[in-house]
Amino acid sequence: MKSPAKAILFGEHAVVYGYRAISMAINLYSYVNIKESNDITLYLHNLNKSLTINLEELKTINPLKFGDFKYSLMAIKKVYEYLDINNGIFTEISSQIPVSCGLGSSASITLSLIRGISNFFGYSLTDDEIAELGYQVEKEVQGKASRTDTATITYKGTLEIKKNKMKKINNDLLKSCKFLVVFVENRKKGTSEIIKDVAKCKDKDIIFKEIDALIDEFYNIDDKRILGNLMYRNHLLLKKLNISTPKIDKIVEIGNIYGYGAKLTGAGGGGCVLILVDESREKELINRLINENVKIFDCKVVY
Ligand code: PMV
Repeated sequence: MKSPAKAILFGEHAVVYGYRAISMAINLYSYVNIKESNDITLYLHNLNKSLTINLEELKTINPLKFGDFKYSLMAIKKVYEYLDINNGIFTEISSQIPVSCGLGSSASITLSLIRGISNFFGYSLTDDEIAELGYQVEKEVQGKASRTDTATITYKGTLEIKKNKMKKINNDLLKSCKFLVVFVENRKKGTSEIIKDVAKCKDKDIIFKEIDALIDEFYNIDDKRILGNLMYRNHLLLKKLNISTPKIDKIVEIGNIYGYGAKLTGAGGGGCVLILVDESREKELINRLINENVKIFDCKVVY
């Protein structure tokens, strides 16, 4: 079983204040491989760490006390409770999604586990049930969660999010777009801390209205050049919120010169830049990025 990652195309932070955001599922994946077992064993391939508990322990443990395993254990616990499963599993979890940088790596693993385990035991849960279970896992682990990651990764494609209401959108322009997700630097702060910093910005409402207006424009275009420009304008507005960094800005400028446009994606304070690729200049773009010591991932929206 595999699940994609997510990237926000427009509207991060504005969405926290009830404005719209557009998110998309992208082709970076987490994977789970499940086999029969007497106990519950989780093997985290990327970290080369494993944990075994028995079925009785699963009922009573607090997954939050299990560090790197907390999302996976919570996902297993939730799906086991929901489906009343009484058999063990050995599950190997691996991921190509960079962590803690706004691409939904934990949500992706959570959803791979929920889908993988339910399929393994012969259940076919609906996407709505899966998205809800995924959201419950994130909420229990994080205390507070938005539905953006779990919904985007469950339903795939492109979603408009407003006040935690999701609407799938069908955008032909995006189907033909190639993006680069560029991991620029680790974030120095977590999402909730950055949200608190944004709350102190006195111009935030004007900025959010301008970001929301970009989404109206987005719905009325069919040209990658204009889409890239809208992304760049969104970035400049995020910069006004003080959530960009010099290194992020530098990569965005490169994306803007050698691609159709670029912006930071996610909460900010570091993390990733999303670049809309101009295929006629892709080599130049990549050569330019390689000099910056960043990690580059080729991405498309997945449906
Ligand atoms: O995916 P993150 O954790 O980088 O958060 C990005 C989106 C925010 O708007 C900042 C928060 C949210 O929950 O919508």
